[in-house]
Amino acid sequence: MMPSHLFSLTSAVGLLAAVASAAPQEVHASAIASGVHASASSSATATYGAPPPAFTYNATHFLKDGKPYQILGGQMDPQRIHPAYWRDRLSKAKALGLNTIFSYVFWDELEPVKGQWLGDKPNNDVAKYFKIAQEEGLNVVLRPGPYICGEHEWGGFPAWLSQVPGLVVRTYNQPFLDAAKGYIQNLAKTLAPLQASNGGPILMVQVENEYGSFGHDQNYTKALRDILKESFNMPLYTNDGGSGSYLKGGIVPGVLAETDGGVADGYAARDKYVTDPSELGPQLDGEYYTTWLDLWGVNNGGHQSYITYGQDYVNGVISDIDYVASNSSRSISLYMVHGGTNFGYEAGALWQNKTLAVTSSYDYGAPIDETGRSTDFYKKIRDVLVKYNKYIPDVPANIPLMAIPEFKLKQVVPLFSTIGNPTKTSHSPVTMEELGQAHGFVLYSHTATTSNSGAVQPGDRARDRVLVYVNNKLQGVIDSTYKIPNTVSVSLKKGDKLDLFVENLGRYDYWNQFTDYENVVHDPYKGIVGEVTIGGTQINGWDITSVPIDQVQQQVKSHSNGYGYVSKKPDTPLFYSGTFTVPKSLADNNNPATRDTLISLAHGVKGNVWVNGFHLGRYWAVGPQQSLYLPGAVLNRSGSNEVIVLELEPNQTNGTMSATGITDREWFTQNDVDCPGCTS
Ligand SMILES: *[C@@H]1O[C@H](CO)[C@@H](O)[C@H](O)[C@H]1NC(C)=O
Ligand SMILES: *[C@@H]1O[C@H](CO)[C@@H](O)[C@H](O)[C@H]1NC(C)=O
Ligand SMILES: *[C@@H]1O[C@H](CO)[C@@H](O)[C@H](O)[C@H]1NC(C)=O
Ligand SMILES: *[C@@H]1O[C@H](CO)[C@@H](O)[C@H](O)[C@H]1NC(C)=O
Ligand SMILES: *[C@@H]1O[C@H](CO)[C@@H](O)[C@H](O)[C@H]1NC(C)=O
Ligand SMILES: *[C@@H]1O[C@H](CO)[C@@H](O)[C@H](O)[C@H]1NC(C)=O
Ligand SMILES: *[C@@H]1O[C@H](CO)[C@@H](O)[C@H](O)[C@H]1NC(C)=O
Repeated sequence: MMPSHLFSLTSAVGLLAAVASAAPQEVHASAIASGVHASASSSATATYGAPPPAFTYNATHFLKDGKPYQILGGQMDPQRIHPAYWRDRLSKAKALGLNTIFSYVFWDELEPVKGQWLGDKPNNDVAKYFKIAQEEGLNVVLRPGPYICGEHEWGGFPAWLSQVPGLVVRTYNQPFLDAAKGYIQNLAKTLAPLQASNGGPILMVQVENEYGSFGHDQNYTKALRDILKESFNMPLYTNDGGSGSYLKGGIVPGVLAETDGGVADGYAARDKYVTDPSELGPQLDGEYYTTWLDLWGVNNGGHQSYITYGQDYVNGVISDIDYVASNSSRSISLYMVHGGTNFGYEAGALWQNKTLAVTSSYDYGAPIDETGRSTDFYKKIRDVLVKYNKYIPDVPANIPLMAIPEFKLKQVVPLFSTIGNPTKTSHSPVTMEELGQAHGFVLYSHTATTSNSGAVQPGDRARDRVLVYVNNKLQGVIDSTYKIPNTVSVSLKKGDKLDLFVENLGRYDYWNQFTDYENVVHDPYKGIVGEVTIGGTQINGWDITSVPIDQVQQQVKSHSNGYGYVSKKPDTPLFYSGTFTVPKSLADNNNPATRDTLISLAHGVKGNVWVNGFHLGRYWAVGPQQSLYLPGAVLNRSGSNEVIVLELEPNQTNGTMSATGITDREWFTQNDVDCPGCTS
């Protein structure tokens, strides 16, 4: 994403802009005119009679097999789509009129534990996704980061990086460059054979991501460029916001400079501010925003759909796409053509003196919606592209979503009864990362040795949402979603048990070196950082328990004897469970999309949902997201399907919950029961 929508320029950025615009506009016309870009590709040094390079570019055009190639692209990240639907989504991108797919790769999912490479996990098999793209007649632009932003958990970085001594991400820092190199080399084992020069679909690879919005140390980006060059043999490019300051910080010698955001503005900025011939070539808008991302919060009605943007907005998009498509030296990638879902804990967050957590839905108002169905927006975009290419395939029909009648969710077992012994006992709290944990929750328990009362301060601040219990009774919620979180006061007597249950809402995916909000340094730490105080008095002596909930079915089953637990007003987080079967008429259909549905919960306040162990993501009554996409591919067609819900605040549910499979998504905001007056 281009951060300028969300962040105003700081004086430091403004200074860079001034320097950039003062620079002489030196145009190396002769170098530009001299023809084909000398890429690292040996095939680029064309001699008479030799075949043209598989993919390269000159001053005005990308060239594929020697012929002009206009990139009509769209972003679609394999790790945000259930692998059973990769072909479906790719074929729909093709039928929209696109010829190229842009894909981020999420390092944190490929290597969640240092040295443990999970490239064979079905949703991590990026090589397979690219092969399917090629079969569907699409080429690929690879965006491996390692930093990718993308509203994704820590911008794609695995949490363990924070525990490597001396490592600083996105800087010229040996421990970071070593880790980045290991990641790129692992990735290249399966992706290098798929480069265009080897007959594969991958045309280009991006260096870093909008680095000019973060810093301006070319030593770092040059080192990254060289790491990519060692592993890949294809043109490299950078992608930055379309302004002088962003481009100045982001360009890298020998790497094609491209832009983000509005097409005409981005192209003009590139023409104006980039003068080094080794960075020049055809114009590509590498992220043209279809609409925008969604954030949790009572005031974030959001960007759920292009419809809410109105007809003028849609007309603007259509005219921009026409402007690009009508001229073969202009290229574009729609961000997103299909957003998919931030399944599990993979959504990122932003920090603006409060936590802005990204929803599990990554629908993005894209032409292909979260469930994979084409929208009216899709038809309008296709109508433009068809003017320039009559060979665009027909649009596959949309399959209706499956409805599941409301079914009861029964209380199974309190979460705290399933988490076993403390992971660590310590004088002071330790962070989630120090526990070797990437996501989920941490429980900090303290038994009072003396009386103590006053407001609870959970370390330097809530990271990110703290449920406070005394003797298993909920006292309140301290939630950094609000600029001024609730104050929760407690009164402890000797022997009372204080529990702070801390939820990680996702690590920041975007931050920069110029802006600090309330002097908060952008570190990735979750759990509790620093000391806990009550009424200003430091509390020592903690039992600390990791609660990642990675194997939910096992965790629930091994700690419950059936559905015995019944409490009218349960107070601590509680697992609920229920089952449903697929209607007979759909069970025989071989297309899993016929069983896609949206799960809507009655009475849920906040929590997580799993179906047959597959983690759909988070729900939160405040919205705007009110239903979760359930891919039919995770269902058992002939047997029962188990829905497990972790409700964090079951005291609000009166003990009962239920779920329904709905066919139109629910999308609205409402007041926060934990912070009734809170809006910002
Ligand atoms: C770049 O390629 C295009 C398309 O083949 C061609 O029309 C143009 O003349 C080339 N430009 C240069 C400078 O060679
Ligand atoms: C980049 O590297 C050069 C040469 O090693 C060095 O002189 C310069 O200080 C470095 N720049 C930064 C910002 O570290
Ligand atoms: C085509 O686009 C290129 C790049 O933006 C521009 O330089 C050129 O003037 C355009 N050609 C026409 C005919 O508009
Ligand atoms: C964050 O707080 C600082 C200090 O109070 C203030 O200067 C800044 O404008 C705030 N930023 C936002 C985005 O609210
Ligand atoms: C719980 O029960 C009370 C009293 O019957 C009712 O007012 C409230 O709306 C119920 N809450 C939910 C979430 O159903
Ligand atoms: C689906 O359910 C049937 C009937 O209970 C069972 O026999 C089968 O093993 C299940 N299949 C899967 C993949 O779980
Ligand atoms: C649940 O706990 C919160 C926090 O103590 C309290 O404000 C709320 O009234 C409780 N809800 C019910 C239904 O007991």
